[in-house]
Amino acid sequence: MKRIGLLTSGGDAPGMNAAIRAVVRSGLYYGMEVFGIERGYTGLMEDSVIPMEMRSVSNIVQCGGTRLRTARCMEMLTVEGQKKAVDTLDKYGIEGLVVIGGDGSFRGAKVLSEQYGVPTIGIPGTIDNDLEYTDYTLGFDTAVNTCLDIINKLRDTMTSHERVSVVEVMGRRCGDIALYSGIASGAEIIVVPEIAFDMNDIVSRINRSRAHGKHSNIIVIAEGVMGAEQFAKQLQQGTEHAVRPTCIGHVQRGGSPSMADRMLAAQFGNKAVRLLKDGIGNRAVGIRNNKIIEMDIIEAVSMKKTFNYELYETLQMISM
Ligand code: F6P
Repeated sequence: MKRIGLLTSGGDAPGMNAAIRAVVRSGLYYGMEVFGIERGYTGLMEDSVIPMEMRSVSNIVQCGGTRLRTARCMEMLTVEGQKKAVDTLDKYGIEGLVVIGGDGSFRGAKVLSEQYGVPTIGIPGTIDNDLEYTDYTLGFDTAVNTCLDIINKLRDTMTSHERVSVVEVMGRRCGDIALYSGIASGAEIIVVPEIAFDMNDIVSRINRSRAHGKHSNIIVIAEGVMGAEQFAKQLQQGTEHAVRPTCIGHVQRGGSPSMADRMLAAQFGNKAVRLLKDGIGNRAVGIRNNKIIEMDIIEAVSMKKTFNYELYETLQMISM
C-alpha cells in the first residue's frame, strides 16, 4: 500500500494528536504517502485533504484536542454521504484509511470496509472507555486524571464546610469514567447508568460515614443517569447535610495526554500502519492484558460493553 489516509472523528480525546503523529511517522518510515483528512468524515466528503509530512506532526505529542479537528457526521449514515467519502478517497488514490474515534466512528469505518472495500483500521479514541474489545480507549486515562484533580479540590472545600459534593462526569451509557475516578479519588458513592440507584440507600451511606467520623462526602455521578444539579436537589430533600453540585463537563476532554495515553497512541498508530502496509484492513486495534491486539472491526463494534462489577464492589467496601 503506497497511499494512506487518516482522520479523527466523533468527540475528541487527549492522545489523538500523539496517535496522528504515530500514524504519519510510521507511514513515512515505510515509504508511504500519508494524507490527513480534516473534520472527520465531514472533511472526507468535502475534500478537505492535506498531505502530511514529517514536520506536519512536530510538537503535537503533548497537545490535547486533535490538529485534524473532528466532527460528528450524520451524513456518513446515508448512502449519498458514503459515496462522496469514497469518491474523495479515489480522487487522491488513497488505498487504506485509519480512523481514530469512538463507536460511531467505527461504524463509519465498518461501512467503508464492508460495503465499499476500503481497507480501514480503527484506533479507539474516546474518553468514554465504552468499547468492549479493548481494555482501554485513548483519552480515558487523561480524562480520569483531570476528573481526579477536580475532585481532590472539591474534597478540600467540602471537608472544610462539612458538605456533600455531587460531581457529574461524562458517560451517557458507560459508567467507566465515574467508576475509575470514584475509586481513585476515594469517593464514597458512584452512580452509573449500569446500576439502578436507591436514594434512601445513598442517604444511609452518607449518615453512616458521618457517624464514623467523616466530614465530607463525594458522590460521582455519570451524566447518563441525570445531571448533578437535579441529583443534588433530590438528595438534599433526604439529608440535613448541605449538598453542592459540580458538573466537570468538557474540561475532562481537553488537556495534555498522560503518559499512559501517549504510550497507547504510539503503539496503536504504529500497529495500524503496519497492518495497512501488509495489505490487512478491516481491523480494530486495541490493548488487552497489556498487549496490543487487533481484531475484526465488525466484530469489535458489535461486542456489548460489560461493566466491571468487581471494581464497583471494591469501591463499596473500601470507601467508607
Ligand atoms: O463521546 C465522548 C463524549 O465526551 C461523551 O462522554 C459525552 O456524552 C459526549 O461526548 C458529549 O458530546 P458533545 O461534545 O458533542 O456535547
